[in-house]
Amino acid sequence: MEKSLKGRDFISLHDFTADEIRLFLETAQRLKHGQKLGETIQPLKGKTLGMIFTKASTRTRVSFEVGMIQLGGHPLFLSGNDLQLRRGEPIADTARVLSRYLDGIMIRTYDHQDVLDLAKYATIPVINGLTDLLHPCQVLADLLTIQEKKNRLAGLRWAYIGDGNNMAHSIMFGGAKMGMDVVIASPDGYKPNPVIVAQAQADANANGGRVTVVTSPQEAIKDADVVYTDVWASMGQEEEQEVRAKAFQGYQVNKENLALAKPDAIVLHCLPAHRGEEITDEVIEGPQSMVFDEAENRLHAQKAILALVM
Ligand code: CP
Ligand code: NVA
Repeated sequence: MEKSLKGRDFISLHDFTADEIRLFLETAQRLKHGQKLGETIQPLKGKTLGMIFTKASTRTRVSFEVGMIQLGGHPLFLSGNDLQLRRGEPIADTARVLSRYLDGIMIRTYDHQDVLDLAKYATIPVINGLTDLLHPCQVLADLLTIQEKKNRLAGLRWAYIGDGNNMAHSIMFGGAKMGMDVVIASPDGYKPNPVIVAQAQADANANGGRVTVVTSPQEAIKDADVVYTDVWASMGQEEEQEVRAKAFQGYQVNKENLALAKPDAIVLHCLPAHRGEEITDEVIEGPQSMVFDEAENRLHAQKAILALVM
C-alpha cells in the first residue's frame, strides 16, 4: 500500500487534497475488486484498531470491524460507557494510553472537539466515525458510490435536502474537493454552519466546484444528478423530534420533487432512514435508490482509509 498517507488522521475531508481523496477512492475500488475476486489482501497483519463509540451504530461499527478483519488486523470495540472517559479521565490521558497499545483509533462521539483533542494527544492515526459536526467516512463511501454509478464526480450536481447537519457539512467538503456542484436546501434555523459553508466554498473555488445553500428543496433538486437526504433529528436531538418534524415539512424526498431531478438521478441516504419523514418508502425502495450499494461501500471506503493511514 502507498506510504504517503501513513500516520495521517482522518477527521475531515477538508484536511485532504483532491488527489489524496482520489487515492482513497482508487484504493477502495481496488480493495473492493480484490474482495469480489476472493483475493486475500492483508496489509494490517498484527495491527489493532480501537473503536470508541459513545453513540449507537450499525453500519460504522460492523463495517470497520469486518474491514479490519479482512485486512488481517484486529478490531477492538470500546464502548464509551465502559471506558474511564465516562468517569472523567481526560481525553488527553486516554489518547496517550491507547497509543501505547493500539495502532489506530476510530471514534464516534458528540463533540467534534473531543476528536480533535484525541488526535492532538494520540501518537497513532485517529479516524472520525461521526461527530455532531462531520461524518467524513460516510461521504467517502458516497463519493465511491457516485463514481461507480455515474463514472465521474466533477461537474455533477449533488442536491442535499434537509437538516444542515454533519452529513450536509461533509457532503459540502467532499463534493467541493471533487469539483462537484453541491446544493444544500434547508429551512431557516437549520441551515449548515456558516464557517463550514465558507471553507467548503473556498475548497470548491480551488477545485472547480460550487457550494450553494438555498431554502427551496425544489430549487436544489432541479436537474440534480444525485439526490441526498438524512434524518430530521440526529443522534442526541431526540427531544427535538417534534419541533423538527414541523420545521422540516416539505423537506421530503418524494416522487413529486424527485421528478425535478435528472431522469437518471440516483438517490442516496446515509441510513438509518425514517420513511414517511425525510424520504418516502416509495423512493427509498424505488429504482433510483442506491442506498444499499452505498451502505456496502462503507466497508470498501473504510478499508482504504485503514490501509492507507495505519
Ligand atoms: N450511516 C451510518 O453511519 O450508519 P450507522 O449510524 O449505523 O453507523
Ligand atoms: N445525521 C445523522 C447521521 C447518522 C449516520 C446523525 O448524526 O444521527
